[in-house]
Amino acid sequence: MDRIVVAGGRRLLGTVDVSGSKNASLALMAAALLGEGETVLRNVPRLRDVDGMLQILSALGAHAGFDPHDPHTVRILADPVDTPEAPYELVRKMRASFMVLGPLVARFGHGKVSEPGGCAIGVRPVDQHLKGLEALGAKTELSRGYVECRADRLRGARVVFDVSTVNGTQNVMMAASLAEGESVLENAAREPEVVELAEFLVRMGARIEGAGTGRIVVEGVPRLRGIEHRVAGDRIEAGTLAAAAVATRGDVLVRGVDPRAMEATLAKLRETGAAIDAADDSFRVRAFEAPRAVDVVTAPYPGFATDMQSQLMAVLTLAQGSSVVTETVFENRFMHVPELLRLGAEIAVAGRSAHVRGVERLSGAPVMATDLRASAGLIVAALAAEGETCVSRVYHIDRGYERIEEKLRGLGASIRREA
Ligand code: EPZ
Repeated sequence: MDRIVVAGGRRLLGTVDVSGSKNASLALMAAALLGEGETVLRNVPRLRDVDGMLQILSALGAHAGFDPHDPHTVRILADPVDTPEAPYELVRKMRASFMVLGPLVARFGHGKVSEPGGCAIGVRPVDQHLKGLEALGAKTELSRGYVECRADRLRGARVVFDVSTVNGTQNVMMAASLAEGESVLENAAREPEVVELAEFLVRMGARIEGAGTGRIVVEGVPRLRGIEHRVAGDRIEAGTLAAAAVATRGDVLVRGVDPRAMEATLAKLRETGAAIDAADDSFRVRAFEAPRAVDVVTAPYPGFATDMQSQLMAVLTLAQGSSVVTETVFENRFMHVPELLRLGAEIAVAGRSAHVRGVERLSGAPVMATDLRASAGLIVAALAAEGETCVSRVYHIDRGYERIEEKLRGLGASIRREA
């Protein structure tokens, strides 16, 4: 089982290019099921989760894989889909696979996907996905851990989400694109990945307005066609690299991402005292002294991203003063706390809030990754800690970060992967 070893205490300096967005890529790959003809996605990151989605698409009968001549291009042909069933052993490893259900029932009239089940950070139900698909006329049946949806032709409807759900909004928006008539999605998620998916669908021939607001209007069309698309840079990877620069009092130019898609993250890091200069598809982040303590509450976009919570907490463990980190999106997203304590952090969790008292320094120690973003937070802390930190179970990191140790080494970090 791979582990990453970091000799901390070195300032990160230089330029780093972020990979394409994991979460945008997963939704766009599901959307490819809707298109007649080939879909080509460029700037797709080489991640375990992307491989998982490719396996799901192939299991459905689609031709899906990385282009042999370009390591970051994915080609998908959904026309051959003949088995609209996504099996448990694949879905449980990559819950975003549930997003194939909407496209399957919309285009092929039938989809059967394993319930994704919970994960380390929470129960993560899919009731809102099903509420939306049923509103569009899908007949759903739950049996033996699978959700089966059927519909001769979906019909446009009004869907009011009870909670802001990113993949739920994406799943229903994809299904509505081929439904007959108009659909209105109220209380829709506003994340940049929802906007990118809507723009992608429109270029496939869909008619969608309002993506990025809480109200999305979709006028169904009879068919969609495959297109080419370059995936946007990953705003969470970019935020993670920015947090690492601040934690190590570095000076880093992060390229290949739109800073406007991560304003809450950059604003919060500025509050800690970092200097951040944004350009069109890059930003420079500099820190000169220990960060100031700040309070943060995670929230759906445009609020502070829950996916950035552990990385910011790692920064705040070294702040001058005490911070309160409140997690409102998922119910169990503080599993990085016990591991940060092993590095000498002072954190007390009370319900949905973690009280972080800044310390002068962290000291390296063996720690264990528990989930994707918790492990990212541990890497940020390890880069700032004095001495050596060994992060085990790094397969969690490989789900969402492409070659993270190479990127950090390119910024001067002393970091290596050990089998
Ligand atoms: C997406 O997950 C992201 N994953 C997550 O990133 C991210 O943390 C999350 O959005 C929030 O930003 C992908 O896009 C693949 P939600 P998603 O539905 O859509 C509740 C990462 O690290 N909910 O927005 O599954 C749910 O329990 C991953 O890259 C329902 O109650 O998240 C949660 O409390 C982790 N019923 C809240 O909504 C539903 O039907 C937000 O979840 C769906 C969700």
